[in-house]
Amino acid sequence: MTTAIYPGSFDPITMGHLDIIQRSARIFDHLLVAVAPNFSKSPIFSTAQRLEFLREVTQDLVNVDIITFQGLLVGAAQKNNARIIVKGLRAISDFEYEFQMASMNKKLGDDVETLFMATSTKYSYLSSSMVKEVAQLGGCIRGLVPDAIHDKIVSQLLG
Ligand code: PNS
Repeated sequence: MTTAIYPGSFDPITMGHLDIIQRSARIFDHLLVAVAPNFSKSPIFSTAQRLEFLREVTQDLVNVDIITFQGLLVGAAQKNNARIIVKGLRAISDFEYEFQMASMNKKLGDDVETLFMATSTKYSYLSSSMVKEVAQLGGCIRGLVPDAIHDKIVSQLLG
């Protein structure tokens, strides 16, 4: 059985993230979506909220589990028998940082491989930070985040 891990801040999950989750779930036997507490960025949504949003929008995907982890991603992958890290790649601008992280993760755990999945063109401009900014400034984010959690996200960002 092939288990893959898809890590991120998911602050909050966007349609771009959900697209990667759905497509990865069709490829791998088991997909772990791993919410990082995040040291460098200060998340707006708590870890519990980010987990809840992810659980709500993936409830129909039977081979997807939502987890959180402390410490190194490679450690979380090894602990959960995931030998593949899935990363979504939006554009050339993502590449340098993602390549650097993939190289560091390979150095930290030689048995764990990073695979990049190209983001669907329709979501290639999307990011959690842009979604937050637009919503906080009163712009419409419908279609950019999963419908099921849209109202909760907007009310928290405006509240
Ligand atoms: O959604 P993001 O913020 O781009 O996700 C970044 C994330 C969580 C994947 C990255 O920060 C991460 O892997 N953090 C875990 C800590 C770690 O393993 N660091 C060393 C590898 S660079």
